Amino acid sequence: MTGLPRDPRHDPVLRDEVVAALAIGPGERHVDATFGAGGYTRAMLAAGAEVIACDRDPDAIAEGQALVDEAGGRLTLIHGRFGEIDRLLAARGIDAIDGIAFDIGVSSMQLDRETRGFSFQADGPLDMRMAQEGESAAEWLNRADESEIADVLYHYGDERQSRRVARAIVAARPLSRTGELAAVIRKALRHPPGAPKDPATKSFQAIRIHINGELDELVAGLEAAERVLRPGGRLAVVSFHSTEDRIVKNFLRERSGGDAGGSRHRPALLPSARAATFHPPARKLRPGKAEEARNPRARSATLRSAVRTAAPAWPATMTKEAMSC
Ligand SMILES: C[S@@+](CC[C@H](N)C(=O)[O-])C[C@H]1O[C@@H](n2cnc3c(N)ncnc32)[C@H](O)[C@@H]1O
Repeated sequence: MTGLPRDPRHDPVLRDEVVAALAIGPGERHVDATFGAGGYTRAMLAAGAEVIACDRDPDAIAEGQALVDEAGGRLTLIHGRFGEIDRLLAARGIDAIDGIAFDIGVSSMQLDRETRGFSFQADGPLDMRMAQEGESAAEWLNRADESEIADVLYHYGDERQSRRVARAIVAARPLSRTGELAAVIRKALRHPPGAPKDPATKSFQAIRIHINGELDELVAGLEAAERVLRPGGRLAVVSFHSTEDRIVKNFLRERSGGDAGGSRHRPALLPSARAATFHPPARKLRPGKAEEARNPRARSATLRSAVRTAAPAWPATMTKEAMSC
């Protein structure tokens, strides 16, 4: 696997570890829930799988057509959200798969194209919509209450000074460019020129997670995967943010019969209340030093994986608030 070339548009994080966790057997059918530049898909094809790949970004799907042609009938690309991957598969007559991988978050292609409005490093329209539809970051920031903005910055970006930043954003409205927003945040946080980490990083991440409903999608995607994996099927999830990782950890702990540590939002289930839908998860994996040095995106990545049991899927009742506690 390590011999596969890396796409200059996006260097896939923990690719070989994900494909190892999927344990692809000859002729098996696997899903790449986050196609992006197709890095995981290429590795799954090389391991002998038939692949169905999905992405909510129409650009990723359009740019993937060349790989569909190369794959000689072994790759199907679907435009859609992984939160409904079971329905997208059912619409194609597929009700069981051997494995599914998620590589959560934003691709380098999305970040690097200033026209998409994800980046604080290059000026562009304040957009941040992966699916290129729905409310843009500018529309939301220009209409939301100061307290709503502060909550998003705090919960999805771990921004300790969320109230100060939200106040500055509201005072600077209307905003329409990423450069303007980044300047407002830097000024609010009194960014010393040349400081190593740009203080806009956390707020941009938080706004992106909110605009794309990423945590709700993650919960829905895990539950959809539980419904569509066959007994013995494998789930692999790479996440880049502590809240996302907590959702994956709690989901797998609870579904494998462990105590996910009930909370105000989620009363602890009795261990025997439902049959476990996953075997105890594998130990979490982090990128090695070499990958971190080569690819800075890898530094915050965590891979969690588990194997499906034969028990029926649980009802889809989880919320992101419950799963992230
Ligand atoms: C980190 S990139 C994946 C990169 C890919 N593994 C590769 O090797 O090229 C994440 C991709 O998932 C897509 N995505 C994020 N959330 C999604 C969702 N809920 N449903 C479908 N695609 C999603 C994004 O549009 C982006 O293209």
